[in-house]
Amino acid sequence: MGPVARVFITRSFPFGALERLRAEHEVDLWDENAPPPRDVLLERAANADALLTIITERVDAELFDAAPSVKAVANLAVGTDNIDLEEAARRGIPVGNTPGVLTDATADIAFALLLGIARRINEGERQVRAGEWEPWYPTHMIGGDTAGATLGIVGWGRIGQAMARRGEGFGMEILHSSRSSGVSLDELLERADYVSLHTPLTPETRHLMSTPQFARMKRTAYLINTARGGVVDQVALREALVNGEIAGAGLDVTEPEPLPADDPLLSAPNLLVVPHVGSATTRTRSRMADMAVDNLLAALAGREMPHPAS
Ligand code: DGY
Repeated sequence: MGPVARVFITRSFPFGALERLRAEHEVDLWDENAPPPRDVLLERAANADALLTIITERVDAELFDAAPSVKAVANLAVGTDNIDLEEAARRGIPVGNTPGVLTDATADIAFALLLGIARRINEGERQVRAGEWEPWYPTHMIGGDTAGATLGIVGWGRIGQAMARRGEGFGMEILHSSRSSGVSLDELLERADYVSLHTPLTPETRHLMSTPQFARMKRTAYLINTARGGVVDQVALREALVNGEIAGAGLDVTEPEPLPADDPLLSAPNLLVVPHVGSATTRTRSRMADMAVDNLLAALAGREMPHPAS
């Protein structure tokens, strides 16, 4: 075992993995569900040798400057768009993430959003609770089909492929578009009845879906986003929904998060939004915690992280 290090964990962390970390190192825990204010983050990181971070923490040059002893960062997420990976690499600080374990949970939420928005589940539930349930009539609450429809997957990583398997199970035709395979994004947008986003947020994918892309989609097609809010231009999405250029959208991610209740997007029709819960299952979150701790224990012992982010 190497020397005892100080690890700052930036959020409540009620997982068994915490004890494994505590068995070897000193843990400073921000034991809240809300993120530490930036000044507190900088102050607590300043005393740390390693950080276990959440996607809401911006890990950048300012943070590294404030925390010169930090030798490793483990993000409790597969996405690392909150971390300046180039800056970390320049400083020789390894960064780890949690790929693989959240694939099925996230694809489940993507498919739940697809079914929920196409079959108008939230709208129907609202009608029932508001006492607006009308006797059965032929056009009541009609929505989109899955069997025989085309599911267009943008990004062909683990989660995109898991989404494709779910679509296949529902009898859908699958199309995909990625940097290295599949059809062009334009072709996918023109052919798909459902467009599901599964790309990381990078400068290249920021606002990948904007006015011209919504114009290419069928007026009967739906957008599903479980990737990152920034992949979608939300002003353009609102316009597309309001003007009926697309049939609806199901979102697990927005920009910003949390999305304020008075955000104009929320007044758009045919929109189903859940609060970034793609990986929110008991087993998934506990496995993510294990992986983050494995990453830190390895890095602090001078070994390579088992799950490096790049
Ligand atoms: C991730 O892992 O990147 C998710 O967005 C949070 O679980």
